[in-house]
Amino acid sequence: MPAPIRKAVFPVAGLGTRFLPATKAMPKEMLTVVDRPVIQHVVDEASSAGIEHFIFVTGRNKGVIEDHFDKQVELEAVLRERGKTAELEALARDLPGPGQTSFTRQQAPLGLGHAVWCARDLVGNEPFALLLPDVLVQTEGKSCLAQMLELYAKTGGNVIAVEETDPEELHNYGVVSVGPGAGAAFPVTGMVEKPAPGTAPSNLTIMGRYILQPEIFDILAGQTRGAGDEIQITDAMLALLAKQPFHAFKYAGRSFDCGSKVGFLTANVAFALKREEIRVAFYDELKKLI
Ligand code: G1P
Repeated sequence: MPAPIRKAVFPVAGLGTRFLPATKAMPKEMLTVVDRPVIQHVVDEASSAGIEHFIFVTGRNKGVIEDHFDKQVELEAVLRERGKTAELEALARDLPGPGQTSFTRQQAPLGLGHAVWCARDLVGNEPFALLLPDVLVQTEGKSCLAQMLELYAKTGGNVIAVEETDPEELHNYGVVSVGPGAGAAFPVTGMVEKPAPGTAPSNLTIMGRYILQPEIFDILAGQTRGAGDEIQITDAMLALLAKQPFHAFKYAGRSFDCGSKVGFLTANVAFALKREEIRVAFYDELKKLI
């Protein structure tokens, strides 16, 4: 039985320059998809998969994320006074409990691998989940992380969620090469971060959900720079692959890159169309627009 995954790391230090001026004074992770901040959707995915502790690697001007995952005493008092029980209950449901969140700062924009390394002491010596908050995943049944945990319960080791991507887009991602698989899981044989166009080893890209063993921190401690002169988690995983099994997992669902305008807007449409109370009205308006 592999060690349980209790903790999840959320790297939320990015500047969000692609969304200026919206992100001038507000973190990009607080942009809303329908009526929930993007980061809340990702935390929802983790908590519904059974994660107990939420570790945020933040940066300057991200304080509002910490406020978002705290009680809002004045607001709750007003809601209580006005008898808004449903709203109060919804707020309570979304909130991790006391002591279930931790925040640390990355201090310097040295890459995703560096952001993850900043969480080393908060994670400690246990396997953990890593969820990139730019990526939202819509699934019909179990969430992406919950599906990965089911696989992990059988395989242990490290699990990377992957998806098939158009050849002309591969240079924007981490790409894995795999051996013959069983079902949706494939043993990883190699990986490369942002391969030069035409050189990717497959069309399977790393999409932003990982289950990792704590030995990754020893490798990240080397602070080796890779693609874009940044410390890359993909390079550290490639080094760990020499010592530990990795499975690439083709999850069932669809991802949205909320770090791009088109992805973010598409996520809003896709998530709105799943919301019972606005679905029909929103669909009618969309039809008129298109
Ligand atoms: C990061 C990872 C990359 C992955 C991507 C998914 O890249 O380094 O391996 O494919 O997220 O969104 P970034 O988007 O931060 O450049």
